[in-house]
Amino acid sequence: MTQKHSENHFCADPVFIRKALLSWYDRHARDLPWRREQDPYRIWLSEVMLQQTRADTVIPYYTRFIEAYPTVEALSAAPEEKVLKLWEGLGYYARARNFLQAAREVQTRYGSRVPPDPRTFRDLPGVGDYTVAAVLSIAYQVPLAAVDGNIKRVLTRLYCLEEDSLETSLKKEIQSRADTLLDLERPGDFNQALMDLGASTCTPRHPACSQCPLLSFCQAYRRGKTLEIPPPKKQKPLPRVNITAVVIQRGGMCLVRQRPRAGLLGGLWEFPTLSPGVLEKEEVMLQDKIAELQHTFSHLRWYVTVYRGELHGAWSAVQPWRWATAEELASLPFPSIYHRLVEQVRKNLSATL
Ligand code: ADE
Repeated sequence: MTQKHSENHFCADPVFIRKALLSWYDRHARDLPWRREQDPYRIWLSEVMLQQTRADTVIPYYTRFIEAYPTVEALSAAPEEKVLKLWEGLGYYARARNFLQAAREVQTRYGSRVPPDPRTFRDLPGVGDYTVAAVLSIAYQVPLAAVDGNIKRVLTRLYCLEEDSLETSLKKEIQSRADTLLDLERPGDFNQALMDLGASTCTPRHPACSQCPLLSFCQAYRRGKTLEIPPPKKQKPLPRVNITAVVIQRGGMCLVRQRPRAGLLGGLWEFPTLSPGVLEKEEVMLQDKIAELQHTFSHLRWYVTVYRGELHGAWSAVQPWRWATAEELASLPFPSIYHRLVEQVRKNLSATL
């Protein structure tokens, strides 16, 4: 440990920090539907949905999902398409496919009981360190410290952690601070208290320090560095992807294809695109342009130009495809970028019947 390092420990005895944090949580915890639950399956679902997604956005999805699939058994029997439909608009669809797969494993291997053992739980599809710590601490009071983006920010500020002042990597250092700070009697509440503090008070650009229960312990605040720690991320321009999609209607139906399971928007349906292996230029005659759409993903930006089109006689690609009626279009999961277009096409199909 360097001198700089040990000075970080100044007076902040974890006992005081824990106490301040938990008594704040007892007064200010957000009232969220999954917090009224004891059921490990439901807590697990909430943690899967909350990855990369704000609580306000998750609430209606969570509620609908629990209504449709209240238990591991119910979910295990669900077709993937129905599960993706319930996830439609929430993004990061691999989460849904993995969660379904994991629920099926829990049913067949563990008699539908979410395994409380961290290693066993960690082996399930889509379950990483964060999910293990969050779910098991909240559902079973297993003493594991969860570290998500919000918690990372709170702890880097609380201990004024900077990459260049550390011997170990910042990630490891944050995890070890979280482990040391964790309240062993109330690990689930402790983790959620840090999450709430990061979401409501210790926010990235406008932290409400005067309302923070940890203000007197906060080393970044003490040094006037709250806004510098963690350093704001530089926004890189996102790669642009240009796509041509085609709405092809025939006999009251529309041609759609399912995206490959692996990869972006895996398993969702879309209008065929002019691209190798999907729809070749020679296979279709483009007519009028009907929409220009944009969607920003975490790592790239789609620009989709949509045409009406007609197929030439022989066409072979578009695998796996389906001619869908207006009704079927409504039940298939589509990426958000196409939702308005799907509605438009459905109206059109119904009008031409
Ligand atoms: N973000 C991730 N998990 C959460 C939880 N249990 N409560 C609130 N926000 C969260």
